[in-house]
Amino acid sequence: MTRANLAVAAVAVAALGVVGGAYVWAILGGPGGPDPDNPRVVARGQAVYADTCAQCHGANLEGEPDWRRRKADGTLPAPPHDASGHTWHHGDDLLFKVTRDGGASIAPEGFKSAMPAFGETLSDADIWAALSFIKSRWPPAIRHHQERLGGQTR
Ligand code: HEC
Repeated sequence: MTRANLAVAAVAVAALGVVGGAYVWAILGGPGGPDPDNPRVVARGQAVYADTCAQCHGANLEGEPDWRRRKADGTLPAPPHDASGHTWHHGDDLLFKVTRDGGASIAPEGFKSAMPAFGETLSDADIWAALSFIKSRWPPAIRHHQERLGGQTR
């Protein structure tokens, strides 16, 4: 192989690496954001949701019964994640933070939250997958509205 050919080969290998990396990233969803149109990410998120979220937020995202009424211990029940709740009133970054760091991380002083932190038990990618699954279940108008909130954290 001549020196020029070697250089061409090196560039080709590097380019393949970048394309391959981007492809794997696209398939896995990347840990950096939601991907509700990616069936693989949504399927993974559905499994995460069933294992770790459904017990409180409901198998069909319906939330706990009477979810607006405070419980005797002062905490609120888990709200629905479907269109009837208020999950979609918040931007992606806030939803991620609540899930990773728990409800107390964003609550005002003195507010008692029953939403656990999952940062120790779930990877960032799993958290985004669960949120992708939730988002994939919203009607288009609600998704559109929520997407305009973007990365806002409140
Ligand atoms: C032990 C019960 C419980 C489990 C399990 C749970 N949550 Fe929650 N979650 C809550 C409660 C209660 C709230 C209401 C907020 C509060 O009181 O702080 C909440 C709120 C939230 C919110 C904010 C919604 C909003 O409209 O403000 C998000 C997002 C959320 N949970 C995501 C998840 C995800 C994703 C999982 C699974 C990985 C999960 N939760 C598992 C109890 C739970």
